[in-house]
Amino acid sequence: MYAALKSIGAYIPEKVLTNKDFETMVDTTDEWIVKRTGIKERHIAAKDELTSDMGVEAAKIAIQRAGLKINDIDMIVCATISPDYLCMPSTACVIASKLGRTNVTAFDISAACTGFIYALAVAKAFIESGMKKNVLIVGAEKLSAIVDYDDRTTCVLFGDGAGAAVVSATKKRSEAITDIHISADGNYGDLLMTPGCGVKHPCSENIVEEKLCTMKMKGNETFKIAVRTLTSDVVNILNDNGLDAQEIKHFIPHQANYRIIKAVGDALKMSSDQVVLTVHKYGNTSSASIPMAMNDIWENGRLQQGDTMLLDAFGGGLTWGSALLPFAGKPAK
Ligand code: UT7
Repeated sequence: MYAALKSIGAYIPEKVLTNKDFETMVDTTDEWIVKRTGIKERHIAAKDELTSDMGVEAAKIAIQRAGLKINDIDMIVCATISPDYLCMPSTACVIASKLGRTNVTAFDISAACTGFIYALAVAKAFIESGMKKNVLIVGAEKLSAIVDYDDRTTCVLFGDGAGAAVVSATKKRSEAITDIHISADGNYGDLLMTPGCGVKHPCSENIVEEKLCTMKMKGNETFKIAVRTLTSDVVNILNDNGLDAQEIKHFIPHQANYRIIKAVGDALKMSSDQVVLTVHKYGNTSSASIPMAMNDIWENGRLQQGDTMLLDAFGGGLTWGSALLPFAGKPAK
């Protein structure tokens, strides 16, 4: 039995925060943000809209596009760094409940921006082992809830949103997810972290005052490692599978920074129509960025059945991963 990605869906919150808006909030300019990141705007969830709510909306679309009903789903995996609750219940459990699905395997994955690829690997393993048939994987983030809007070095980067996909068992080799690499090096954990409100620095007045429950990033160091790792990751998975970068129809990298994506694309000699870009309109949505980007090319008719996709992500942990797979769902157009 093989595992195949049968559908993609996304939810993008209504409210838009532009670079111009940030000019009134912190010492920054539209010009700086565009030049250094490629980001022009990002979407922000409503006050009462939770990570699980966005995940549920993306999930409903993905399940419907896979031609399934909620009761056909036998496992739900949610990748997120902005869960509804700090420890429990998991956001996957909340999503299952909101979808009306009980008695189902459901758990979260914490692998930051690489979370969706980790979730895909878990789905693949469960399906290939015969334990599950239809796995719903969700990448959902309300990063606006863990961003310090007084810190110009991070607040302009992040946005909210969710993406979801259904991974199903298939006997067709042509539909199978070809390969996935996932990895981590915890020695670099301090480059990108939320230091407070865990067991090490439990929530206290002090921790809240110092905003230690928000994301802190050593941006420039992270940037350099990201370019190096994302490139070598792709080279490795292509070599392992005897493929050239030019044989990839859609390269869908994590959308953190246009300059990182451009550097990786150029190192691999990819043409601009191979490289999927959404960072200008969604910003960095962590685990949701790859499925949101995939959904974009599906909805505009670029992603067709059988197209080879190469996913590549990098994030806090540090974690990184890549996946090589055909799109096994129906096209939008
Ligand atoms: O998603 C997970 C992985 N994340 C990433 O891969 C993100 C990787 N990092 C980046 O994308 C970039 O490093 C940033 C966009 C975060 C920063 O760009 P940079 O070119 O690395 O800038 P920098 O951190 O070296 O800062 C350059 C200058 C500094 O000023 P001085 O010290 O040179 O006077 C910063 O204080 O830019 C300043 N700066 C800003 N200026 C205006 C930092 N943020 C801003 C801002 N507006 N928003």
